[in-house]
Amino acid sequence: MPVIETDALTKRYSGGIGGSGTLAVDQISFRVERGQVFGFLGPNGCGKTTTIGMLLGIISPTGGSFRLFGGSGPAELHAARQRIGATLEYPNFYPYLNCRDNLHLVARVRGRGEDQVQETLGMVGLADRQKTKFKACSLGMKQRLALAATMLGDPELIILDEPANGLDPAGQREIREIIGELARRGKTIFLSSHLLHEVERTCTHVAIVESGRLVTLGGVDEITSQRIVVSVRAEGEPSALRDAAREFPDASGAEVDGDRVLVTLEHDDIAALNRFLFERGIYASHLARERQSLEEAFMDLTGAGEGFGAVH
Ligand SMILES: Nc1ncnc2c1ncn2[C@@H]1O[C@H](COP(=O)(O)OP(=O)(O)O)[C@@H](O)[C@H]1O
Ligand SMILES: [Mg+2]
Repeated sequence: MPVIETDALTKRYSGGIGGSGTLAVDQISFRVERGQVFGFLGPNGCGKTTTIGMLLGIISPTGGSFRLFGGSGPAELHAARQRIGATLEYPNFYPYLNCRDNLHLVARVRGRGEDQVQETLGMVGLADRQKTKFKACSLGMKQRLALAATMLGDPELIILDEPANGLDPAGQREIREIIGELARRGKTIFLSSHLLHEVERTCTHVAIVESGRLVTLGGVDEITSQRIVVSVRAEGEPSALRDAAREFPDASGAEVDGDRVLVTLEHDDIAALNRFLFERGIYASHLARERQSLEEAFMDLTGAGEGFGAVH
């Protein structure tokens, strides 16, 4: 049974000039299975927060349906949401209370004890900083405290809307490590992001969304290995090597990259490429499979990507 399952889920916001509204989410269907770290990836305005809002019952869909832990009726959804921790439900932390006391308030509301407060503070790396007043916290600490609050109820499913947004690389890495730890503890995680590299490093599965529509869905490894890119070095001019490689029947492209040539193959037969080059008098000194980045795969798949996923 999938933890989340959507079927042509749609949201059109009403209003606006002309009255046709905004089609924010357009017939999106996907499944999130137990234990996955599922990335919901797309540029700003593509419908990520709207989708999460529908799952959490804050926004009502205008089409399609979804199930949480197999249930879709109002009572089942209500019960399922007790098993979810989500950052959209961020408590309003009190600026003059310290991290520990803020978390304590959340714990009281959820009926959790001091031991859990300390455990979650430890998990997000705030144990040593727990006496810091919220107003004195860095953005990274605030985000980690929000993550701690999300985890307090020991939820089975954790939904995070852009958890690394606005953080510097060190802060992003901290969030990534916490998510990794949650995944190791068997949690199912659904996170939205507009950062390709964040999803690539954090997630096992990804749905890529553009303008409310799903454009790609699958395992991160599966998506990045649909095309095989081989890096080749040989004596002589790389351009001669490139031209020879382009003649290889299984090659869909070859480009010079510094002193090497990157050859894209339709099938995973590097030995055949080597034989082909050898027969043309080219002796490769280096021949290795390159892992295609999600960004490259994304551009291949959508022909888009301009200005999307800029590294902050
Ligand atoms: N309450 C709303 N009323 C009207 N349009 C909205 C509302 N919320 C979001 N939108 C529009 O819906 C689209 C998707 O927004 P959103 O789900 O916030 O995207 P994301 O989280 O991916 O940035 C955007 O075009 C946005 O302007
Ligand atoms: Mg958003």
